[in-house]
Amino acid sequence: MKAEPRLSTNLAGLKMNSPLMAASGCYGCGFEYARWIDLRHWGALVLSGITLDPKTGNPPPRLAETPSGMLNAIGLQNPGIDGFLEEVRPRLGELGCPVIANIAGESIGQYRELAAILDGVGEVSAVEINISCPNVSRGGINFGREPAVVGELVAAVRPVYRGPLIVKLSLEAGDLIAVGRAAESAGADVLSLINTLRGMVIDTAARRPFLGNITGGLSGPAIRPVAVRAVWEMAAAVSIPLIGMGGITTADDALQFILAGATAVAVGTANFVNPKIAAEINAGLQHYLDENRLGHYRELIGAARSPGRR
Ligand SMILES: Cc1cc2nc3c(=O)[nH]c(=O)nc-3n(C[C@H](O)[C@H](O)[C@H](O)COP(=O)(O)O)c2cc1C
Repeated sequence: MKAEPRLSTNLAGLKMNSPLMAASGCYGCGFEYARWIDLRHWGALVLSGITLDPKTGNPPPRLAETPSGMLNAIGLQNPGIDGFLEEVRPRLGELGCPVIANIAGESIGQYRELAAILDGVGEVSAVEINISCPNVSRGGINFGREPAVVGELVAAVRPVYRGPLIVKLSLEAGDLIAVGRAAESAGADVLSLINTLRGMVIDTAARRPFLGNITGGLSGPAIRPVAVRAVWEMAAAVSIPLIGMGGITTADDALQFILAGATAVAVGTANFVNPKIAAEINAGLQHYLDENRLGHYRELIGAARSPGRR
């Protein structure tokens, strides 16, 4: 009998060869990277955020390098759901790994509409809800800030989407744990965390904010300890699986999230530096299992909570 691949996982029904995922917004639609790497190294790819209508995004500059990370203010540039269905959907079958759609809306109705459309799209294996978006009917306050609003949003989307539903959390929430619990009670299957942290850079020569949008989202290794802490705390608060992300660049970084309690991990910013990173991290995870004589990576999920090996 063939041995079970040691990195395989089942995330709320989503079968993956590896717990490693490409984070939304950092991997385009996947096929842009296919000339550099066999995409089957990824357990799943999360597509860039999709909105109901096309978006041209924020004015430039949209990216700024920062110590151990970067700031981005892309502004969800995307072709809208119709453009996605026409231009992107037909090519998703070529990728060779499961694809997750990331959706963003300005109202609960928009999220629901997007999820209902994606329910009929066989090439998409799961939906991730980005709740770090301004709620137009509440004066632009992010959906993700208030547990009650997150509960309402997830409860509205849940009945119209039958596949695994992932809710992506941001530390911009006042009370991250309350938001995670609200999403779980309203029917989320998986939580992913963390999204970028809001920051800004000032151009001292111009004496002006550097980014066209003034503020942007900080990502990369600079946010990793904050993200590991968030996963650690969330793992103790909910019983649904977690996808951990924020600054993962090596297998050791990925292991930190798994040991803190994440079932899967996602890599965002590091893809811009190393397009072959998925192959390297998978090899590093296998090596760790070999060195520690472990049969399957699942033995490591949340293992930092037990007495340890010191
Ligand atoms: C350029 C860029 C675009 C992003 N776009 C999205 C997006 O459309 N939807 C989303 O939920 N997160 C988006 N993110 C957040 C990432 O998916 C991820 O949560 C964050 O960058 C932390 O991971 P990292 O440090 O490995 O990049 C984006 C991040 C970057 C850097």
